[in-house]
Amino acid sequence: MKGQGARDRTFCVLKMKELLTVKNLNKHFDGIKALDDFSCTINQNEIVGLIGPNGAGKSTLFNVITGFIQSDSGLAHFKERKVLGKSPNKISKLGISRIFQNLRLIRQMTVLENVLLSFKNQPGEELGNIFFKQKLSGKIENENRTRAMALLKGAGIAEKANDLANNMSYGQQKLLSIVCCLAAGAELLLLDEPVAGIAPEMIEKILTIITGLPQQGKAVIIIEHNMDAISRVCNRVVFMDAGQKVCEGTPEEVRNDPQVIEAYLD
Ligand SMILES: Nc1ncnc2c1ncn2[C@@H]1O[C@H](COP(=O)(O)OP(=O)(O)OP(=O)(O)O)[C@@H](O)[C@H]1O
Ligand SMILES: [Mg+2]
Repeated sequence: MKGQGARDRTFCVLKMKELLTVKNLNKHFDGIKALDDFSCTINQNEIVGLIGPNGAGKSTLFNVITGFIQSDSGLAHFKERKVLGKSPNKISKLGISRIFQNLRLIRQMTVLENVLLSFKNQPGEELGNIFFKQKLSGKIENENRTRAMALLKGAGIAEKANDLANNMSYGQQKLLSIVCCLAAGAELLLLDEPVAGIAPEMIEKILTIITGLPQQGKAVIIIEHNMDAISRVCNRVVFMDAGQKVCEGTPEEVRNDPQVIEAYLD
């Protein structure tokens, strides 16, 4: 058993390593402060809940971190690399992927095609591939298909692979969006309301998948209004209102914070 303690300590150090650091982010939309000096840190293997009333700035935070909108000021580092100012595609290649509140699948493509498009190693992406690397392209394509089918199987939707994404239930589309993040090789998944508006059994399925992500070396930020879901899967919860971080702590601590209770009673 000698060395076990050291291994555990190493694991703890690894576990708490900072993955994403966001500092003093500001974003105005006309007169609205969607992000007001917002700072937070996400560690490796953490599942963090981001809660707050409608219009608190939660989705804006995801939009800024993933390059879909530019902040007015502030900093964001992912594994010590600058994030702000990069394109969504570059940020995805760094290892941050997201699902949108209104999902953004390509509905007229099949489920499998949606997953294949998410892989980083797209065959034919480089000009050279088109002319000189057809054989390599074919090999990558086959490998990607196998990996895509394994991911769909893991999510329990492999039998839908050849259906149009549009023909899936809303819950299955949410699942597929998470699979696409995994296909992109994300180390940090930003999930904007992954269980909102779907049937209870699908909520269970999605929560089970989310809970298993840290074991695969992934960290997650979940935006949700469903406090029960947040309490079940999150190690830590951040509560924001009017663009500001109001408090953070365990789900229990945040749920009982007077500022949180007041905000939801207003
Ligand atoms: N592109 C935009 N243009 C103008 N205003 C915006 C834009 N995006 C967000 N806002 C405004 O910024 C504020 C924060 O919006 P955001 O979508 O981030 O809130 P949210 O916390 O995700 O809310 P919800 O829980 O309803 O999804 C809101 O007042 C919203 O109207
Ligand atoms: Mg939102």
